Amino acid sequence: MHCNGESRRVAVHPRARAGLVALAVVAVSCVVSQTTPPVQPSLPATLPIDPPSARRGALVYERNCVACHGDRGDGRGISAPYLVPKPRNFVSAVYKCRLTPTGSLPLPSDLRRTIDNGSHATAMPGWKVLGDAQVDDVIEYIRSFSPRWEKEKVSTPVDLPPETADTAESRVHGRAVYEHLLCGSCHGPRGEGNGPAVPTLHDESGAPIVPFDFTSARQLRCGAEPIDLYRTFVTGLDGTPMPSYAGQMKPDEGWDLVHYLMSLRH
Ligand code: HEC
Ligand code: HEC
Repeated sequence: MHCNGESRRVAVHPRARAGLVALAVVAVSCVVSQTTPPVQPSLPATLPIDPPSARRGALVYERNCVACHGDRGDGRGISAPYLVPKPRNFVSAVYKCRLTPTGSLPLPSDLRRTIDNGSHATAMPGWKVLGDAQVDDVIEYIRSFSPRWEKEKVSTPVDLPPETADTAESRVHGRAVYEHLLCGSCHGPRGEGNGPAVPTLHDESGAPIVPFDFTSARQLRCGAEPIDLYRTFVTGLDGTPMPSYAGQMKPDEGWDLVHYLMSLRH
C-alpha cells in the first residue's frame, strides 16, 4: 500500500479491500494528502500471534482440521495419504491464495478467505459454519506452527488496478498478452490446460499438478471474480508451478488478459 493518491484507486473489490483493511489495522499511521509527494509508510513490523486466541483456536483445530493438516500442522494428518493435492503444511507456511507478493506470507485476511470458502476441487471444505470468532482463533493457531510469522515483516499487498471495460478489443488484445507471456506452455494454446509442459509439472509435495482449464466449468481455487484472476497471475500460486507475473504487463494488459480468460469460461 502506498500512501498517495494512487492507493485510493486501488482494489475496489470487497475481497481485495478486506486484505487492505487488515493491513491498515497493523500499519503505522499514514497521512494521505494530495499536495504532498508520495510518502512511503514504514512497513509494519511482524504480526505477533495472540496467545489467548491461539489457545481457543487449538480446540477448533483439533475438532475440525487435525485429520488432514496433522497435529503438528505439517499437513500429515491421518487422511493426508489419500489426498491430492496434499493438505497445506502450516510449518513451511507456503500459501497459494494471497494478496501479497510471491515468496511472502499471506495476510490473515487471505487465510480467512480460503478457510471461509474452501479450496475448490480439493478436499479442503469451506468453514463459514464455524462463524467469524472461531475462524479468527484457528487462524491464530495455524500461524503459531511457523516461526516465519514472528520473524518476517508483514508484506505490502500488491496493487490491483481498477478494471477496464470488457470489450471485444480488450479480449483480442488479452489473447496476444497470453501468447506473448507463454501462458500456453502450461495452460495450452487455447487455455484448455493441456500445454506441452504439463507432463513435467509438480507441486511442492512432488505430486503431479494440472494447470487450470479455462474452458471448463471448474471452479477456480482462489476465487472466481475477475479481480481474483488478476491477483493470481500477479502473486502466483506459491508451492505450485504457477508463477508470478508481477511487473511483466501494464495494468490495462492485465485486465485484457482477464477478459480473454473469462471469455473462454463455459
Ligand atoms: C478433509 C481434509 C481437510 C480438512 C478437514 C481441512 N483442510 Fe485445509 N486443506 C486441505 C487441502 C487438501 C488443502 C490444499 C488445497 C490446495 O492445495 O488447493 C488445504 C489447504 C488449506 C489452507 C491453505 C490455503 C492456501 O492459500 O494455500 C488453509 C489456510 C487451510 N487449509 C486451513 C484449514 C483449516 C483452518 C481447517 C479446519 C477448520 C482445515 N483447513 C480443514 C484439506 C483439509
Ligand atoms: C509453468 C506452468 C504455468 C505457466 C507458464 C502459467 N501457469 Fe497458470 N497455473 C499453472 C498451474 C499448475 C495451475 C494450477 C494450480 C493449482 O491447481 O493449485 C495454474 C493455475 C492458474 C489459474 C487458476 C487459479 C485458481 O484460482 O484456481 C490462473 C487464473 C492462471 N493459472 C493464470 C495464468 C496466466 C494468465 C498465465 C500467463 C500469464 C499462467 N497462468 C501461466 C501453471 C502455469
